[in-house]
Amino acid sequence: MYKVMSGLVVPRPIAFVSTISADGVPNVAPFSYFMPICSTPPLFAFSVGQRGDGQKHTLANILHSREFVLNIVTEDIAEAMNASAADVGPEIDEFQVAGLTAATSDLVSAPCVAESPANFECRLVETREYGAPPASTRWSSARSSSPTSTTAS
Ligand SMILES: Cc1cc2nc3c(=O)[nH]c(=O)nc-3n(C[C@H](O)[C@H](O)[C@H](O)COP(=O)(O)O)c2cc1C
Repeated sequence: MYKVMSGLVVPRPIAFVSTISADGVPNVAPFSYFMPICSTPPLFAFSVGQRGDGQKHTLANILHSREFVLNIVTEDIAEAMNASAADVGPEIDEFQVAGLTAATSDLVSAPCVAESPANFECRLVETREYGAPPASTRWSSARSSSPTSTTAS
């Protein structure tokens, strides 16, 4: 069913989600099961599948800090966005893997992508789990501040 759903529901925007781990390692990864769900208050939701029998780092980091940044993807950083989806260990800084710059956010502990033209700094509202492992999916919704613009350095 994954192929049918992801092949027919196109095009999809990308939630380019940056987080920081409990050990302080910056992380960034793309998620296309994503949408804005409310404007007042500003809420977004995206879904994270399982990796093998474990959690993807994005979800583990968000459950720990309850914060993340949704970075807007432009064509200029599309290749870097794809590179950040690499399956690497939690000790690896995926900003470095992708050749992107981790900038300090204004309101949350998670870094933002400096090369993105706009970033929503978000706090977790809730997560819901659907299906059974290893194919389960966690649907996270988060409240956001107004988007901030960053300048690439
Ligand atoms: C364009 C694109 C869209 C993706 N969308 C999703 C998605 O919606 N849900 C998901 O779990 N993984 C998705 N992935 C795969 C994750 O980005 C990938 O598993 C990544 O390694 C997760 O990183 P993390 O372990 O640092 O969180 C997508 C990958 C790409 C390239």
